[in-house]
Amino acid sequence: MDPNITPSLPNDLFRRQDETLDAQFYHHPRFVTHIDDRAIAAVTQLYRENFAPDSSLLDLMSSWVSHLPAEVHYRRVVGLGMNAAELQGNPRLDAYVVHDLNQQPALPFQDQEFDGAAICVSIDYLTQPVAVLRELARVLRPEAPLVITFSNRCFPSKAIAAWHHLDDRGHLALVRQYLVSAGGWQAIELLDRSPQPPGRSDPLYAVVARTGTA
Ligand SMILES: C[S@@+](CC[C@H](N)C(=O)[O-])C[C@H]1O[C@@H](n2cnc3c(N)ncnc32)[C@H](O)[C@@H]1O
Repeated sequence: MDPNITPSLPNDLFRRQDETLDAQFYHHPRFVTHIDDRAIAAVTQLYRENFAPDSSLLDLMSSWVSHLPAEVHYRRVVGLGMNAAELQGNPRLDAYVVHDLNQQPALPFQDQEFDGAAICVSIDYLTQPVAVLRELARVLRPEAPLVITFSNRCFPSKAIAAWHHLDDRGHLALVRQYLVSAGGWQAIELLDRSPQPPGRSDPLYAVVARTGTA
């Protein structure tokens, strides 16, 4: 993917059709998967490639599944999301916190607490993504991987206006721009990891980056 695509953005970039509190929308648990099995397998493969065994990971915007490879042991996995019942039901989490990032983008974690982080099919719901990604750089150790994945599906009323305005390539460019604006990120890669042949499964795109060197 060309990393130099510049998306054209609407003025009301971060507005959403449903501006009520996210706590209301996520009040009831949804024990569903948001992409199909082959797209999930592509997410799992990216985690396998980027997250070292025995590392400590943050699953940001987490639910009842984390898509981490079943055969790999991680020292500690912490989830942050909006629904306690979903997070409680997530078998990969050692701990979780219910926290609305759109109300409070500051992360409730220590500096350099984690070795890696994931955001799966959720970046489109952040109204202050640059602030969240700046915080994420703070809570990760130097040269730690961040894997952001997304497909072409969403809860339309909760996705930001820019997400609706852009196509898949535009989404990649937008997420790259978030990381550049946040600062503290290097080696940003834009990937199309859609299962092949196209059209038989949900597409899967990723933005992978690392925090800066110490
Ligand atoms: C489409 S689900 C994806 C869940 C999970 N990452 C996965 O791969 O299945 C969107 C997730 O984003 C989380 N989320 C949405 N808005 C949020 C917010 N304002 N603050 C924190 N998490 C949020 C929800 O709790 C939900 O788990």
